Amino acid sequence: MRVMVIGGDGYCGWPTALRLSGLGHDIIIVDNYSRRRIGDELGVQSLTSISSLEERVAAWAEIGGAAISIHEIDVAENYSELANLVSETRPDAVIHFGEQRSVPYSMMDPSAGLFTVRNNIMATTNLLEALIQTQTDAHVIHLGSIGVYGYETLGYEVPEGYQKVRHVDASGNLGPEQETLHPFNPVSKYHLTKALDHLGLAYYAAKHGLRATDLCQGTVWGAETKETRLDKRLANRFDYDPVYGTVLNRFALQAALGKPISVYGTGEQTRAFIHIEDVLACIEGALASPPKRRHRVKVVNQIAECMRIKDLANLFGELSNSEIMHIASPRSEPDENELAASNQGVKDYGVRPTLISATNVSELINYAKRHADLVDADKLYPTSEEKRLEPVT
Ligand SMILES: NC(=O)c1ccc[n+]([C@@H]2O[C@H](COP(=O)([O-])OP(=O)(O)OC[C@H]3O[C@@H](n4cnc5c(N)ncnc54)[C@H](O)[C@@H]3O)[C@@H](O)[C@H]2O)c1
Repeated sequence: MRVMVIGGDGYCGWPTALRLSGLGHDIIIVDNYSRRRIGDELGVQSLTSISSLEERVAAWAEIGGAAISIHEIDVAENYSELANLVSETRPDAVIHFGEQRSVPYSMMDPSAGLFTVRNNIMATTNLLEALIQTQTDAHVIHLGSIGVYGYETLGYEVPEGYQKVRHVDASGNLGPEQETLHPFNPVSKYHLTKALDHLGLAYYAAKHGLRATDLCQGTVWGAETKETRLDKRLANRFDYDPVYGTVLNRFALQAALGKPISVYGTGEQTRAFIHIEDVLACIEGALASPPKRRHRVKVVNQIAECMRIKDLANLFGELSNSEIMHIASPRSEPDENELAASNQGVKDYGVRPTLISATNVSELINYAKRHADLVDADKLYPTSEEKRLEPVT
């Protein structure tokens, strides 16, 4: 298949491009390097030194990988360039990772928040419009977030996109059973964009017959994949700072340095997780099973498991003899919640996800130790400014 990977220079996009290239797909990467620029602006870099995309792709070819083409396009701002590329290349599938993905960044200040909204919604809308206008029948695989459903305790397992409901009229009579989209409850501007993206996919699917899959992803953890290990120039990024570092990667580095494991608030928050290798396996599954034309958007909760933050912190603390430090949460999310979500779609893709365990947490800590000489210790914990990112309600 010819596969366009938008955001193919990022944490999930780069290893995906390598995996799919290795499997024989013809890969076209589109990226505007905004993630690298934001890192420069925030003064924080990936723990691993990452080569430029040109060097990465050259290294892949040098070790025997197929040629990967790269195109620097801001897909949120340059509709015509994107549409021209789509028209020239006619991809069979587009995997859309190309969004601003940090929740704290989206809540940092009005400019970062509005950038996130504009960037993410316009990136998705431009892509969908470009496919329709160029009459390109590509399956769109969009990376959404399981956080679109909010972090209140719902008391049931979040279904994959749709739920059965019956309307109750004013007299209490029950209407016929219907299937509707499960309500969104975004807790940040970032999550708001993912909810709006979904409605965009649904609109283009209903009006134009677009085939789309929305992968409602949990927090991704892990560093290396089979391919990124092959050569240091293929290394994936590993973010550990409070703005872009996802929780396991942050804990791993704190543990590696014997520093306190920083838990926001009580640590009673439950979140969903998935390992980077399983992200790739799910993308492979999604590529192999697109929804039919004129069918609704296929929604998959791309998660392996749900876990309470304090249990996670304790695991890292025990394995590294680090103390647990509770700090004010920079996020206006409930202090505690239960979360359960179906991951039937992941199982249907044939993926048996890696679960968080003492063994793989130790491996992650060791990985962080091996790269710890490049750490900027000032970036391990939120600054007082970052702690005030949002009013805590
Ligand atoms: N990493 C996670 O834990 C996680 C969890 C849930 C969902 N997701 C979603 O998965 C996707 C990929 O996440 P990631 O962790 O790889 O993020 P990332 O920031 O590492 O990668 C995103 C890439 O997209 C590019 N990009 C952003 N806006 C663009 C634009 N307008 N035009 C062209 N390129 C653009 C960036 O430069 C970057 O290389 C995102 O949509 C994110 O919201 C990630």
